[in-house]
Order: sequence, then C-alpha cells, then structure tokens
Amino acid sequence: MSMRKEGEVVCVTGGSGYIGSWLVSLLLRRGYTVHATVKHLNDEKETKHLQALEGAESRLRLFQMDLLRYDSILAAVHGVAGVFHLASPVIVDQVQDLEKELLAPAIEGTKNVLRAAKELGVRRVVVTSSVSAITPSRYWPADVVKDENCWTDVDYCKQIELWYSVSKTLAEKAAWEFAKEQSLDVVVLNPGTAMGPILPPNLNASMLMLLLLLQGCTETYEDVFMGSVHVKDVALAHILLYENPSATGRHLCVEAISHYGDFAAKVAELYPEYKVPRLPRDTQPGLLRAKNASKMELGLNFIPMEEIIKDAVESLKNKGFIS
Ligand SMILES: NC(=O)c1ccc[n+]([C@@H]2O[C@H](COP(=O)([O-])OP(=O)(O)OC[C@H]3O[C@@H](n4cnc5c(N)ncnc54)[C@H](OP(=O)(O)O)[C@@H]3O)[C@@H](O)[C@H]2O)c1
Repeated sequence: MSMRKEGEVVCVTGGSGYIGSWLVSLLLRRGYTVHATVKHLNDEKETKHLQALEGAESRLRLFQMDLLRYDSILAAVHGVAGVFHLASPVIVDQVQDLEKELLAPAIEGTKNVLRAAKELGVRRVVVTSSVSAITPSRYWPADVVKDENCWTDVDYCKQIELWYSVSKTLAEKAAWEFAKEQSLDVVVLNPGTAMGPILPPNLNASMLMLLLLLQGCTETYEDVFMGSVHVKDVALAHILLYENPSATGRHLCVEAISHYGDFAAKVAELYPEYKVPRLPRDTQPGLLRAKNASKMELGLNFIPMEEIIKDAVESLKNKGFIS
C-alpha cells in the first residue's frame, strides 16, 4: 500500500545538491509540491537548474536554509507532510574548523530538522545517511556480508581522521535517538557512491571521484567505498521509503557490494581512451562482495554498474568536465 497523495507537500533539505536535485525532479514528476532548501537564494548556481524542472513553476518553492539556524528550518518545514533530510556537508578534504564546517551542521543540523518536523507534526522523515555509517567497521565478522546491522567504528575513523564518516555516523545515531525519544517516524537510507547524470552546474564529491579516476588518480578509497549506485535509484529509493508505510529502519542502497577496484576496472574496460589506472581488484580488504545486498522492501531493480558508469561519464562529457 502506498501513502502517496496527489498534491501532497514535502520538504527536501539540500534540494540544490547532486542527489537533492534528482529527488526534487522525481517528486515534481510524481505530482508532489516541493519545498526545497538551498543555502543561497540569490545564487543562480543553486536555483536555476531547479527552477527549470518540469512542474517547478507551479509546485516548487525554494527556501533559504542554514542547518544551524532553527528558524530557517521551521520556515521550510512549515505545512509539509514529509521531510527528506539530505543537507549535510560532503567534505572529504581537510577542513579548517572541523566542528563548525562539518560536525555541527551534520549532527546538530539533523537534530534541528527532526525537532522542526516533530514540532510541526510531520508524518515521516526520510534521513539520508550513507554507507559511511556502515563501513569501516573493524569488528564485523570476516565471513558475514555487511548489512544494516553493521555500524561504522567511530573511534577508528577518529584515529585515521576520516571525519566525513564520523559526521555521517554520529548524525544517523542522533536521528535514531531522537526518533525513539520523541516517537517520530524516521526511516534511513544508506546510499553507496552515487553517480550518473548531473543536474547542478557544480560537481559534487562522488562525481569528482569519477572525474579524478578518468584523469589517472590512483586513490582506492579503502575505508570509504562499499559499492556504487545510480543517482536516480538513490532519489527513487528516498521516495519508496517515504511512500511505503511498512518501511522501517536503515536501508543499504547499492547496486551491489563491490570493491573500488571492480569499479575502476569496469571504467577502464568501457573507456579505454582515458588514463584509468590499473588498481588491485581487492581495494577494500575484508569487504565481502554481494549481488543483492539491499533489502527487498525497497522494491527497486537497481541499475547495473555498467549503466551507472556510462550515464556518469557521458554527463561529465556533456557538461564539459572532461573532453
Ligand atoms: N553522493 C554520494 O555518493 C552520497 C553517498 C551517500 C550519502 N550521501 C549523502 O547524500 C546527501 C547529499 O549528498 P550529495 O552527494 O548530493 O552532495 P551535495 O551535492 O554536496 O549536496 C549537499 C547539500 O547539502 C547542502 N548543505 C551542506 N551544508 C549545509 C548547511 N550548513 N546548511 C544548509 N545546507 C547545507 C549543500 O548546499 P551547498 O552546496 O550550498 O553547500 C548541498 O545542497 C548528503 O547527506 C550526503 O552525505 C551522498
């Protein structure tokens, strides 16, 4: 049974981002009215591609939102039945002020969004976590495929200064704590590395990974990669979780659990004209591969890796990121 109601109003935080833009696009196409949050209303790079979407003219409203300003969140969430919480800093490089730039917006920001949802009587919140809240996990049994029962080892991430993974794991934990204490309906999506066609003018972190690979980068993302997923499947998975009343808990969202070496080898095979480096096959030591890794409840036929790569590379070409 579906909870979808024609014309229902929902909020997407981080609506201008890579995944957010696809989610807004799909929601508009399904008949929803969308409150999308952006960081700067006067920056065309955040707004123009959203305003150009089908249905945007009559059913899209943009809100300026800062994750640490509660009143800005309240304004965006006011009058909506559901919230998709995607906004979170995706920073993999060194940051000047860890707390201010990364941890507070991710963790306090998530709590603020959930608080606003509770205060305004929102029916369900879909929180976008990551495989970065599942792996790296030192104590997971070596002979068991990683699933939603597996949690990232935060102490290890702190030791190796993997702060993005710390931010996503603590944000997801904060979401579950809030949901339990305040009886708020929260479901979580844990996507792998999202790639495919690009809607915003700027390149996000996961598409930058592919661009760098095509340019010869030999980084293997040892503690980060768990599998790839088409960006449209990530957007659709958010909607399926929202519309399916029986969905509960965490949801791993990957085309398959795979190693970055598998991914790089496929890119090299499909695009021999680029300088894709030869990487070892096993780039994620101890990560067991699995074909159907995601819960059936999502009801998604995941787009395979080959198509993810083709859609992503062609989009990098069309947008002029690579010739
Ligand atoms: N891409 C992936 O492979 C992947 C995989 C798993 C999970 N995720 C998660 O999916 C979500 C979206 O990621 P994405 O890849 O689409 O990245 P993205 O394009 O960088 O989108 C992130 C969005 O969050 C907004 N944001 C960041 N800090 C904010 C703040 N302090 N206040 C208000 N808005 C803020 C960003 O605005 P600005 O652009 O203006 O900073 C942007 O719109 C994130 O939660 C990310 O952790 C992504």
